[in-house]
Amino acid sequence: MNSVLEICVDIERRVGAIYRELVRHPEANNELREIWQEMAEDEARHAERIQLVADRLDVAGMTDVGLTAEQAQALLDRAAEIYDDVVEGRLSISDAVYASVELEDEFMKAHLNYSDTGGQPDLQTLFKFLAEEDRQHTVRLKKYLNRMNDGKGLVFEDPA
Ligand SMILES: [Fe+2]
Ligand SMILES: [Fe+2]
Repeated sequence: MNSVLEICVDIERRVGAIYRELVRHPEANNELREIWQEMAEDEARHAERIQLVADRLDVAGMTDVGLTAEQAQALLDRAAEIYDDVVEGRLSISDAVYASVELEDEFMKAHLNYSDTGGQPDLQTLFKFLAEEDRQHTVRLKKYLNRMNDGKGLVFEDPA
């Protein structure tokens, strides 16, 4: 399989693993547990979808996905760092929500970047879909944060 796409599959799996851990965060309320549970399931699906397209492109001999292996690896490393923080219990519940928003924002941008890649309709369609789902994750988390902060703390602007 294309090595960049392989890393992308690993990223989605790792992000899913972060959310599965966060579901068990001792300070998480039911609403957050539900959000993270659903996000974990979405990320698992993202991994499967990328895998499917990657296998097909592999057969067709296509390799360019508009993202370098270094960029993909940097995202994977960041996800691994957050995963360790979560597993070691280093994140308060608000840190955890902020870390989730950071992840979603980063990965949504990465998806959008490679959804611009020319000439590979399968990949473009897939990554547009992934970006849209991750955008919805971000919207959901930010809505939660805005309420959590009761308008006094950090308030995000309405997403475009
Ligand atoms: Fe994703
Ligand atoms: Fe996501």
